[in-house]
Amino acid sequence: MALTIEPATGDDSPAILQLLSDHGLPTDGVLEHVDTALVARRDNRVVGCAALEVYQDGALLRSVAVDGAQQGRGIGGALTMAALHLARTLRVFEVYLLTTTAEDFFPTFGFRQIARDQVPPGVQTSVEFRSACPSSATVMRTILSGMERDVVCGMQVDPAKAAATSQYNGKTYYFCAKVCKAKFDANPAQYVK
Ligand SMILES: CC(C)(COP(=O)(O)OP(=O)(O)OC[C@H]1O[C@@H](n2cnc3c(N)ncnc32)[C@H](O)[C@@H]1OP(=O)(O)O)[C@@H](O)C(=O)NCCC(=O)NCCS
Repeated sequence: MALTIEPATGDDSPAILQLLSDHGLPTDGVLEHVDTALVARRDNRVVGCAALEVYQDGALLRSVAVDGAQQGRGIGGALTMAALHLARTLRVFEVYLLTTTAEDFFPTFGFRQIARDQVPPGVQTSVEFRSACPSSATVMRTILSGMERDVVCGMQVDPAKAAATSQYNGKTYYFCAKVCKAKFDANPAQYVK
């Protein structure tokens, strides 16, 4: 069955905790952010997760984990992209993370290493910063563009000024003109890879 990336629900909490502990990742505080967590689901089973902790001065991406038997198939990448999309949707454009295991995984998604003291105070209140992650963990940041790509014509669109939007598979698509929306709505699968 197809893989889906979707918002986590409270019922996913045990599976998320299990995935994190299977990989030795911190579980402290993650369930406080289940509203902004995502799961990868296959055959009704959670095979991956990622969570965004949103603060007034940025967001923390944490708990990116994929079932050992399912790794290397693009699931971790899809979860990371979906979490960054969620951040954009929430109008949060600076996303931070802490890692001791995957500093070479995240640069593909625009993350670059920074010094710990470059992390803004709100994000530093995360339990990951305060206690769950060692002080030797690598700190990374990506700065997102506020723009979305119109998948029909390729133009960059400011979501706040989009001429039209459509929902498809749980994601919002932004269009520069109504004609692009009409083309998309007629056959969304043609435009979504
Ligand atoms: C990191 C992780 C989420 C990647 O998930 P995934 O589904 O295997 O990733 P994808 O299939 O999207 O991407 C695979 C690519 O990432 C690379 N990659 C995977 N894990 C990596 C890691 N820990 N460090 C560096 N690169 C890694 C693979 O080598 C592969 O590279 P390639 O495309 O050049 O061959 C997964 O390996 C995992 O759960 N690791 C344990 C938990 C962890 O360390 N999470 C990060 C916490 S901050």
